[in-house]
Amino acid sequence: MHFKTSFGFIILLLTVLSCQHKPIEAQEVAIIPQPNSINISKSVFVLNRATSINSEDTFKISSDFLKSYLESGGIEVNSGNDITFIVDKNLGKEAYSLNISEDKIEIKASTDQGAFYAVQTLRQLLPVEFESGSFEGNQVNIPALVIEDAPQFTYRGMHLDVSRHMFSVDFIKKYIDAIAMLKMNTFHWHLTDDQGWRIEIKKYPKLQEVSTFRDETLIGHYSDQPHQFDGKRYGGYYTQEEVKEVVAYAKERFVTVIPEIEMPGHAQAAIAAYPELGCTGDQVKVAQKWGVFEDIYCPNQKTFAFLEDVLDEVLELFPTEFIHIGGDEAPKTRWKNCAHCQALIKSEGLKDEHELQSYFITKMEKYLNSKGRQIIGWDEILEGGLAPNATVMSWRGTSGAVEAAKSGHNVVMTPTSHCYFDYYQSDGEDEPLAIGGFLPLEKVYGFNPIPEELTKEEQKYVLGAQGNIWTEYIPTEDHLEYMVFPRMLAMSEVVWSNPENKNYKDFVARLEHFHKRL
Ligand code: ACM
Ligand code: ZN
Repeated sequence: MHFKTSFGFIILLLTVLSCQHKPIEAQEVAIIPQPNSINISKSVFVLNRATSINSEDTFKISSDFLKSYLESGGIEVNSGNDITFIVDKNLGKEAYSLNISEDKIEIKASTDQGAFYAVQTLRQLLPVEFESGSFEGNQVNIPALVIEDAPQFTYRGMHLDVSRHMFSVDFIKKYIDAIAMLKMNTFHWHLTDDQGWRIEIKKYPKLQEVSTFRDETLIGHYSDQPHQFDGKRYGGYYTQEEVKEVVAYAKERFVTVIPEIEMPGHAQAAIAAYPELGCTGDQVKVAQKWGVFEDIYCPNQKTFAFLEDVLDEVLELFPTEFIHIGGDEAPKTRWKNCAHCQALIKSEGLKDEHELQSYFITKMEKYLNSKGRQIIGWDEILEGGLAPNATVMSWRGTSGAVEAAKSGHNVVMTPTSHCYFDYYQSDGEDEPLAIGGFLPLEKVYGFNPIPEELTKEEQKYVLGAQGNIWTEYIPTEDHLEYMVFPRMLAMSEVVWSNPENKNYKDFVARLEHFHKRL
C-alpha cells in the first residue's frame, strides 16, 4: 500500500514536471495584412471560457464585434479587465496598438475604427474554428506580443460588378466581411451597366420592369465566332430595402459603400427602358453580350432630369461622400450624328465630343457638389477637361493618375496591370474561362500604388488602390470567390502594409495558414 502510494506520487510528480517543461503551444502568428511592427515574447495569454472585456461607448462597434465573435466560438464574455479597450488620442484615425501580455490584452486606438482593426488582428490570432463557430476547446494560448499598426493608404477598396452577373445580398455581405477582415474600407458597387440595371429607382418603374432583365446571354468567350446565346432570361435588382441593409451592414464594419451609376456610357439598359434618353430615340435592348455599346445618354434635358432624379434616390440610400459616376468607354458615334448634341457643342463653345463629355460630367458634378457630395470617375473623365473637384480612378495604366495628381486631383489606383481580378491568375490548363489578361498573385503583391513620376508633394494625391472584379465571365458565387482569393489578400497588403515589411515569400507562408480561415 505504502509502496503503491509513493510510486503513484512519483508518477504524478514526473507528469507535472514534464508538463511544465513542455513549451506552451501558442497560436501561430500569421497576420494579413502584415502589421507595421510585431514584437513577440515567450509567454502566452490564456483565453478561456471566463475571459472578460472592458470597453466604453467609443468602442461600441469593435467591442461588440469581438464579443459576438468570441461568443460564436463558445466563449461567454463577461465584463471585466482581461481585454481592455483604451482611448489613445495620439494614434491616427485608423491606427491601433495591441498589447498582449500574460495577464491581459490591451487595445489602444483613437477611434472605434482603429480598435476594429485591432480586433481583426486579434481575430487572426485565434484558431480558425472560430470563423465557423465550431471551436470546441476550453482555452486558447495567444502569444504575448506588442503590435503597432496603421495603414499606408486611406482608400483601400474592392469593386464588384453586379450588372453582368448578379450576386445575392448574403453574398455581398460575405464580400464585405472579407473586406473588413483584411482592414480594407471601401466597397465600390458597380450597379448599372449595359447588361442590367441593378438598383431600384422608385420614380422610374420601367428601370425595374425593363432594364433589370436581358433576354439571353452570350455563351463562351466574346472572341468565339459566331456568337451563341443561352436563350435564358437573366436579371434582377436590389430593392432599396436591400441596399439599405447592405449599407448598414458595411457601416458596422467600417466599410464605405460607393455606388456607381454609369454615365454617359454603359447606359444601354436604361435606354432600353427609356429610349428618349438616347440620341436616336430608337428602341434598343438590354445588352446580351459584352463590350462597349454606342447607345449612350444624349446630353438633353430629359437625360439630366432623369439622372438627377436617379441620383436623388441614390443619395438617400448612400450617405457616402463619394458617388462614382462611371465615365469610361463612351463612344462618341451617336453624339457625332445627333443634331441636339452638335447644336449643344456649338452653343456651349465646345471643341468636340470629348469636351461635350466633360460638359456632361461637370454638370453632374455640380449637381452632386450642391448636395454635399464629391464625384469619382474612371480616367476617361480627364478627356476634354477634368471636372473641377473630381477624383480619378485610374484604370488604363497609370498615366491618368499622373495627369490628375499633377493637376491637384485625388486619385485611386486600379490599373488593369495589377488590379483586374477578372484576369487569369495562372496559366494552368484547368483555369476557368476568363476575359483574358494575366495577373498572378505575385504581380498583385508587387504593386506600388504610387507612380514613380510623382514628386513627394504630388504623391499625397494618391488616396490608395482597389481590386476590380468585372463579372462578364463570372456567373456564380463560387467562381467569383475563386477569382477574388487570394489576390484580394495581396491587395490588402499593398494598401495597408509598409512596403519595407513586404516580402512575397513570407506572404505566401502566411497565406497557407489563411486559406482555412477563408
Ligand atoms: C473599365 O474597366 N471599363 C473601367
Ligand atoms: Zn444626342
